[in-house]
Amino acid sequence: MASPSNPTGTLLPEDQLAELYRIVDKKKGRLVVDEIYQGLVYGANDTTALALSDEIFVINSFSKYFGMTGWRVGWMVVPAHYVDVIDRIAQNVFLAPPTVSQYAALTALTSKTQVELDQRRDIFMQRRDYLLPALEQLGFEVAVKPQGAFYIYANCEKFTDDSFSWGNQLLTEQGVALAPGIDFGDYLANKHCRFAYTQSLEKLEQAIDKIDAFIRMK
Ligand SMILES: Cc1ncc(COP(=O)(O)O)c(C=O)c1O
Repeated sequence: MASPSNPTGTLLPEDQLAELYRIVDKKKGRLVVDEIYQGLVYGANDTTALALSDEIFVINSFSKYFGMTGWRVGWMVVPAHYVDVIDRIAQNVFLAPPTVSQYAALTALTSKTQVELDQRRDIFMQRRDYLLPALEQLGFEVAVKPQGAFYIYANCEKFTDDSFSWGNQLLTEQGVALAPGIDFGDYLANKHCRFAYTQSLEKLEQAIDKIDAFIRMK
């Protein structure tokens, strides 16, 4: 499971994670938690599943908080007795990330870079605080306020019952891109779409104006 999650940006509360771990453990399963949006948490406790147990598998990457999407470098924290077997799988599946990516990742871990990354996180929060009410004002419904990542998963049934075609038209006619709900599973997928606030505030404002114009035209 992923926390913060894509596409909702929500965090799994610690007590629910603990309950999930208890159930999985009872069934002799393994809990794998994807924490790729760690560091991109707004006004909530930014924690790790490893606080709960060393027996949890945690996946992370330089793609989000570190802004290194495409460099193909990440990491796993695994129970000590799994290191050897995972090492052997990694050796056979991908061997190693590119050397240049590894050096870039080392630099990303310095305290100097962290100052910049935390400023970037604060900018993401400002964008969320703009985009969420702006979308709600247009008529989108957002069931849960995102506390992390950089997405808003919105109900768009006021405008369409086919978010895939609707998003396609919005892209073709207004140049605004969103991800349709079907990208994330079946549940009410046609009534939902995901907005990413990975662009500047200025661009987000332009996008809101364009969505507004698009809705009025339909
Ligand atoms: C929850 C989650 N996990 C993993 C990934 C993949 O990231 P990477 O670039 O490290 O392959 C994404 C990318 O959007 C994501 O949202």
